[in-house]
Parts: sequence; C-alpha cells; structure tokens
Amino acid sequence: MENRKEILVTGGAGFIGSHTVVELIQNGFDPVIIDDFRNSEEVILEGIERIVKRKIKVYRIDLTDYNKVREVFKVHQFCAVIHFAAYKAVGESVDRPIKYYRNNLNTLLNVAELAIEFNVFEFIFSSSCTLYEVPLDCAAVSEKTPLCEPTSPYASTKKMGERILNDIAKTNPRLKILFLRYFNPIGAHFSGFIGELPQGRPNNLLPYITQTAMGKLQELTVFGNDYDTADGTCIRDYIHVSDIAEAHVAGVQWLMEQLPNTKEVINLGTGQGKSVSEIISLFESITGEKLNWKFGPRRAGDKEQIFANAQKAKKLLRWTSRRSIEEAISSAWKWEMKKGSPSVFICYEKAQQKGTCF
Ligand code: UFG
Repeated sequence: MENRKEILVTGGAGFIGSHTVVELIQNGFDPVIIDDFRNSEEVILEGIERIVKRKIKVYRIDLTDYNKVREVFKVHQFCAVIHFAAYKAVGESVDRPIKYYRNNLNTLLNVAELAIEFNVFEFIFSSSCTLYEVPLDCAAVSEKTPLCEPTSPYASTKKMGERILNDIAKTNPRLKILFLRYFNPIGAHFSGFIGELPQGRPNNLLPYITQTAMGKLQELTVFGNDYDTADGTCIRDYIHVSDIAEAHVAGVQWLMEQLPNTKEVINLGTGQGKSVSEIISLFESITGEKLNWKFGPRRAGDKEQIFANAQKAKKLLRWTSRRSIEEAISSAWKWEMKKGSPSVFICYEKAQQKGTCF
C-alpha cells in the first residue's frame, strides 16, 4: 500500500523545523527534510536521530534550485508540505533586502509550484505575528487584528508569502492552506539534543541571554526602558518551541480532515506577555546565574508589546501551549550548556534506559 504519511519539511534542520520533525515522527508521520544546512549544523540531525532513534530522510539541497527540488518530489509521495525554510533575521533583512526577497520568495514559489504539480494539497506556511498592527489598547492580537505595513524586508516576505499562496489557491481550489503566525518561539527539546543554533551573534533575546551567561558574549543590552509598560521594557509572547512543533502536528491532522479550498490563519502563542526585564529575572532565578546586562537605547522597529489571542488554535486545532515559561527558559539554558557535546547524548540515553528523568 502506498505510504501517504510522508511530509515534506523544508528547513527541517532549523530551530522550529527540527523540533517539528521530532513531533511528526512521534505522531506517526514520516518527515522528509530539505535543508542545505546554511543555517544549521550536523549536530541537529544527530540530535533528532538520537531522540527518535531512527535515521532521518534528508536532502541537502538549496530550495531555490527548482530542478533539484523537483527530483525530491518525484521520489516521494508527500501528503503535506510544511514550509519553514526562510531567512529570518529582521535587521539583516534591512541591510540585505535582495538576499531576503530572492531566497524567501523563490523557495516558496518552487515548493508551491511543485506541490501543485505533484498533487500535494496540504500546505503549512510559517508566518509571523510581526504582520499585525498592535491595537491601540494593547489588547491581545487575534487573527482578525488588522495587519500593519511591514517594517522590514523580512516581514514583507512573510506578508507576500501569504499573499502568493492566497493567489495560488484561487486557481487551485484543491489546496488547503494553514498560515501559522508565530509569536516568539524559545526553548529547546527537553532532552537537550536539539535547540536554537544562531549563526554568529544572536539577534533574539533568549540565545543572547544564554550566551551571555555562558561567557560567550560579554553583556546583554536591553533595548529601551522607556516604553509604556509596567517596567518600561518591551513585552512579547514567548512560547516553547516544542509547543509550536506540536501545533504543526495538530495542523497537519486538522488539514487532513478539511475539505478542499480551505484557508486559515492561526496564531501560535501562549496568550501571556512577558517583559524583557521579567525574562531576565526569570532566567536568573531559574538558573542561579547572574546575568551581565545593561539598558541601552530602543532598537529600531521594535513593537512596544504584542501577545497573542490564541483562542482560534484551541478551537480549530484543539491545540494549546502546555509548557511553562520556566520550562522554556531552563531548556534553553540546558541546551546552551551542553549543545552538541557527546556527554549529553550519553546522559539522555542512560536516563531513558533507567526510566529516570533527564
Ligand atoms: N531584546 C533585547 N536585547 C537583545 C535582543 C532582544 O532587549 O539583545 C529585546 C527586543 O528589543 C524585544 C525582545 O527582546 O523587546 C524580543 O526580541 P527578539 O529579537 O527575541 O524577538 P522579536 O520580537 O523582535 O522578533 C521575533 C522574531 C522575528 C519575528 C518577530 C515577531 O525574531 O522573526 O518575533 O514579532 F518576526
């Protein structure tokens, strides 16, 4: 019987991609990764394989290479595509817009065109809460919240990505598309085998904190303390990456139950906002580490506060985030301390054999 459970995961060696691959396997799916590892390393693949105890199907190819991607579609029978692969550094996108437009749009166009040619109609697109206009009353943003003018080429590629898929769906009514708008994914798999691997100096708060605490970076600068929030620092909805990964499994399962011509936008957040200062305090109390940090000027383009109304995900996908911010922070710290070291694999395997907690 043909295997209808193969799922193409582009960018499957990346931060959210790798955690999603683990969850897909643990829920009976057979993910196939396309990733050229420009933003990842072999250790992530090793980590996934250790967790799931099997070999992973991986194609190390550039998704902008249409012919090579087509060869992959020829040899697999995908039932769905989860398209993660994209550049994601907001600041870099401002400096190098062509790089962002060329990569993020061409990869999407190739994957979408091939999905249609090969009758793969279930499509999940990684989108972002950065598209929303923050309401004046700073309420939680729902999927009905109006969108803003994109503030960076990165954000534009996400907005355009949604637009492109919506346009394609008009002439391909068999498509079923889920736009997942992420809030701020943080943390790492509880095993400590996979996590975030920023290339060079991190842009995001959590890896910056953990690398500073490890002494790899000298000092964290908190961007702005004069915002109109309780402690003057920005508020975000930080969500455990494994919760985001589980939402993708729920998303695929939900898409499979839907009729053709389905399009939905769904927020993936916890519904809770935390300020930068609160995250630093939590990090210090959870880890017992004293963080070297100072206040600096605001970072251009930062929203004052944004957090999700996550009710739609609960209603449609029957998904809700279930891991605490404490778990997210401690897993990120565990990953930072052990990433890629052989000892982490040995400890985890021993703990599994003994049925003890790792
Ligand atoms: N921050 C600091 N110092 C740092 C890094 C971050 O104070 O060194 C602050 C930022 O000013 C912000 C908060 O920490 O207030 C979170 O910043 P991140 O860079 O971690 O996350 P952003 O909310 O800016 O951006 C993230 C993703 C984007 C995505 C966006 C959606 O990086 O890809 O969420 O809101 F588009």
